[in-house]
Parts: sequence; structure tokens; C-alpha cells
Amino acid sequence: MPVPLTSAAVDALRARAPGAHRTTHFNHASASLPSAATLEAIHAHLLREAMQGPMEASLAAREQTEHARVLAAQLLNAQPGEIALTGGNSPGWGAAFAALGPWRAGERILVGRQEWGGNLATMRLVAQRAGAVMETIPCDASGAVDPQALEAMLDERVRLIALTWLPSNGGLINPAAAIGQVARRHGIACFIDAAQAVGQVPIDVAQLGCDVLTGVGRKALRGPKGTGLLYVRQGFLPRLTPAFVDTRSAPLGDDGEPVLRDDASRLEPSEVSLALRCGLANALQEALEIGLDNIRARIDSTAQALRAQLAQIPGITVLDLGHEHSGLVSFNLAAHDAVDVQRRLAAQGISIGSNGVAYTPLDMNARGLRQVARASVSYLTTEAEIDRLLSALRRV
Ligand SMILES: Cc1ncc(COP(=O)(O)O)c(C=O)c1O
Repeated sequence: MPVPLTSAAVDALRARAPGAHRTTHFNHASASLPSAATLEAIHAHLLREAMQGPMEASLAAREQTEHARVLAAQLLNAQPGEIALTGGNSPGWGAAFAALGPWRAGERILVGRQEWGGNLATMRLVAQRAGAVMETIPCDASGAVDPQALEAMLDERVRLIALTWLPSNGGLINPAAAIGQVARRHGIACFIDAAQAVGQVPIDVAQLGCDVLTGVGRKALRGPKGTGLLYVRQGFLPRLTPAFVDTRSAPLGDDGEPVLRDDASRLEPSEVSLALRCGLANALQEALEIGLDNIRARIDSTAQALRAQLAQIPGITVLDLGHEHSGLVSFNLAAHDAVDVQRRLAAQGISIGSNGVAYTPLDMNARGLRQVARASVSYLTTEAEIDRLLSALRRV
């Protein structure tokens, strides 16, 4: 049963998060603070490996380590066979993109303006080699990617639409379902980067209409660093031939030909940290128990309160685009660069992020920004923490 996030419930969750009382964390969008139970799940498997032998422990704990896949499917309203467990967002996104196979000259990739820089670089390398082209989908007046403008760009040469749903450089929430529906209507492959969305907002891949969606464990899910998830729609799987395989993802058959696994784990390496997978399973379980509607509501109200109070501080400009906002709050402080603000706050035990152009180059360049300071909240964030951040910023 989902637990409503009352103040008492948040205090109880904070009491079970060892970092929550040691640091004032406004960098949940980079990586959040795991619970003690998530840490214990990791340690427990490492101990099993040390005591039984790592291979023997992995056989004995297979059900437990596979649990992460089942829970990830539940989180996304997908089937377990549609989930590959990865080492982060980029490994999953890159594996799926590379598996699309060769590109031809003149083929088009349409990307949202806030696309993650790593995805852009991956696409650019391939596009340049093949003579394919990348084009940016225009934004509406609020700064969100515009589904109507996308529809107007389509022709038979468009092979992929790529959207970052909740961008890393601010509070925008892009209309992912509307973009996915355009792609689905026209039969064009659609990849959604949900690195910031997984664990922060409710997700239903059927409603999104995407073929591929990627997420990461260490951010809103509060899972371990080095974990991620990749959803591939079952009907899309036959179109993905992994760029490389191993003895698990494509064992050689009797005739010497590789036999690709018929589920998303064809995109998964066999050599992974099962201890981290145990930790991820625990983090997924916790998020599902709290309930994604509860998490979204709490993050939204906390981020809105922070945004409103930040805007009152002389010299601060809040930079979040769009109508609907996430738990990422971006701002700049006049006469200070974001790295300097981050450094000054860190000296007082407060963590925020500072994002340069490289994370979202198309958007940063379009807006003439070189850096943004980013304070990102979690459902663990309290009013007292917001007060601490604001008074430290007033002193800067
Ligand atoms: C929207 C988005 N996509 C992708 C990434 C990259 O994730 P990873 O470092 O797990 O590859 C990030 C990281 O912050 C992100 O915010």
C-alpha cells in the first residue's frame, strides 16, 4: 500500500537514510541519498560472494537479483522481458541506439532541444559517419518541445525521434506522451531519455507510446550508482541487433550461429555487479511502496516552494522553462558563476549542482547560457533544508 508522504512519514524515511542528517543535499538530480536498507542489500550480496564464492553466490541469489527487473517493469507498466538492467542511463541508451543498425545518407534524426549531451554525441558520431542528419524540434512559447512542430517536420526519411523528458538543466517537463503519440502515429522509432523521470514521476510506457525508454538508479530512485534500466517495447525488439553480444545475450547454437535472446536482456552484458542489482531492487521496492503519485506530489510542492522563495532573493533569476515543472530548480546569481555558488555552498555543507553547456548544449546555446546553478529536491527534502539553502544563498 502506498504511504502518503506526511511530514511524519518523511521524517521516518529520513531516519532510515544515513546521509540525510549529515549533509544538506540539493543534488538529488545528480545522485540521491540511498536508504540504509539499500546499502544493506548491497553489502549482504557482497558478503555472500565472499563467503560462498562469487559465482556460487550468484546462482543461489538469482531470484533476488532478478527481482530488480520485475520491479522495474512494475514501475514502468511494462513486462519483465521488456527490461534490460544496465550500468546507467547512457549505457542503456547507447546500446539501444547502436542496435538500430547502419544509417544511410539522408536519413533524419529529430531531437528535442534539451536532449542530453551524451545522447547527442552518440548520435552525432554515427550520423556524421553515415551522412545522416540531426535536426532540432522547435519549442513552443513556454520552451517545451512542441509536438505540432514535430508533426510538421515529418517525412519518410525520419528514422528516429529522441526526447529527453525531464532535462538535466532545469525544471522543464517535456510533453513526452504527446511526442510519443506523434511518433507512434507515424510509425517512427521513439527513444525517451527518462534519466530524471524514473522514480520522480509516474511512468506508463504504453501511454507514452515510446519504443525505448532509459532510466538510472542513482537519481530519483535513490538506488546505487552504476545501475540503470532500459525498456524496449516487445514489438520493437526484433529491430534491435546488439552492436556486440556475449555468451549469455547470444550463445552460439549447435550450427555455430549466435542465437539472440528473445527479450530485452539481449542488450545486457552478463558480467555485472549483482550486489548493485540487489541494491537497485531494494530502491525500486521502496519507491513502489511510497507510490509514484505520492513522490511526484511531494517533489512538486517542495520544488514550487523553493522556486518561489528563490525568486524573492535579490540577484537571483530562476531559469526553469515550461508550464509543468520537475524537482530540478535552475537559477543564476548575478555576478557569480554557478561553480562559484556551488563551491561557496559546499563550504557550508550544502550540495547543489552546476551545469555547463555540455549537458544540454542545444538548449544552453539557444538560451545564451554558459552555466546554471541547480538545486534539485527529493521527497526527503524538508522546509528546514530549504531555509538553510536560502539563507546561505542570501549571504553569497
Ligand atoms: C537527462 C539525463 N540523461 C542522461 C544522463 C546521463 O546518465 P548516466 O550518467 O547514467 O549515463 C543524465 C545525467 O545526469 C541526465 O540528467
